[in-house]
Amino acid sequence: MPHSNRTITLDTPLLVQFRHRVTFTRGVFSVTNPTLRSVLDSPTRGTTTEPTTRRMVAFVDSNVLGAHPSLLGDIQKYMASATGKSGTSPTSDTSFPELTLIEAVPGGEQAKQSMSVVDRVVRVVDEHGIDRQSFVMVIGGGAVLDAVGFGASIAHRGVRLIRVPTTTLAQDDAGMAVKNGINLGSKKNFIGSFTLPHAVICDTNFLQSTPDWSWCGGFSEAVKIALLRDPELFNRIERDAAAIARRSMDAATPVIIRSAELHYRHIMSGGDPFETNSARPLDFGHWLAHRLEGMTNGALPHGQAVAIGVAIDTLYSECAGLMPTQEARRVIAVLRALDLPVTHPLLASLDGIVAGLTEFREHLGGRLTITLLRGIGDPVDVHSIDPATLGAAIALTSRGA
Ligand SMILES: NC(=O)c1ccc[n+]([C@@H]2O[C@H](COP(=O)([O-])OP(=O)(O)OC[C@H]3O[C@@H](n4cnc5c(N)ncnc54)[C@H](O)[C@@H]3O)[C@@H](O)[C@H]2O)c1
Ligand SMILES: [Zn+2]
Repeated sequence: MPHSNRTITLDTPLLVQFRHRVTFTRGVFSVTNPTLRSVLDSPTRGTTTEPTTRRMVAFVDSNVLGAHPSLLGDIQKYMASATGKSGTSPTSDTSFPELTLIEAVPGGEQAKQSMSVVDRVVRVVDEHGIDRQSFVMVIGGGAVLDAVGFGASIAHRGVRLIRVPTTTLAQDDAGMAVKNGINLGSKKNFIGSFTLPHAVICDTNFLQSTPDWSWCGGFSEAVKIALLRDPELFNRIERDAAAIARRSMDAATPVIIRSAELHYRHIMSGGDPFETNSARPLDFGHWLAHRLEGMTNGALPHGQAVAIGVAIDTLYSECAGLMPTQEARRVIAVLRALDLPVTHPLLASLDGIVAGLTEFREHLGGRLTITLLRGIGDPVDVHSIDPATLGAAIALTSRGA
């Protein structure tokens, strides 16, 4: 056969093993806490016997810095003690990274509204000699984690990222994710990448300084995953909702950790960590949440948008005859008890809302797949949403369902 007419195909599965490390702790920057030290002490990959110089830069959510004035000093002290410089730790190790920069990042959704944080991270990685054995640490809410994480995933085609999530939502959901990204105009997370963090360290002490709206917002993701995966968790949230809304750490912490674990397990064992399928099983309520976030230009926080999305998709499930009324109303009552919204004035514009379905389908590709409920802990996928039934579900919330 003449050379030019031949077709040659090489087609082999590529199996690469990843490790996803998540730790819940308290006082991560207390010099006696070994969690961060053990993450940073991990041996350099490769065959060289020479210790390489490793560095770390840290980006901190500006609102976390504002609420924790001693944080910068605590991080510096921790790193100095871990490298033995302060003389407080005997574990001096030449391969332990040197902290060369701590910098504030504008907190909240603004971090994701342009390339500016991403640009800054890439530039810092370059200027501070952060190689692929070195570390970028990010401390903050889900938005700052997403923006800094994206920068770290593209500089050098990806450097090691240590996430320290500081909100309920970032600890019970976003921090577990193996993706990051920023928004393109009103399109949430349009620019981003799938990347595993080197480690995730959740310090529940940070949660105490979050604003009330952010505290409550994170529990919408816990309700969401309980409805999909764990009726026992739903019962616990239902029982403790008032205490959680009053910010009891004793009531909240087990819910946050269980929700994080369920999100984590889905990524690790769900068979689709990089979301190549058109079904997105954990995105219950999210088609509408993303639409409302876009329609409000980010003024409606993600947690509150998810609460509304969960409420409407639950009531849709009821109106479509899938879910018993009594169970659906328990969901609405729990969301309300958590001080979360279940409706929004923009829901009056049914056409605008329905357009969100097209956007969601375009994002996933393939056939529209929306997760609904047959009951608490009993999800079901459907492939179309009937606008009249959606209108009926929305009408129920405005009548105080
Ligand atoms: N990567 C993913 O898979 C994934 C999953 C879920 C959500 N997200 C993203 O996460 C973002 C929402 O995250 P969020 O709910 O954490 O909101 P957020 O990051 O906007 O944080 C909420 C507010 O609290 C401030 N803050 C954070 N920690 C604080 C602390 N300890 N004390 C005081 N203030 C603090 C922030 O600066 C911000 O103003 C959205 O952009 C969403 O798209 C990403
Ligand atoms: Zn979400």
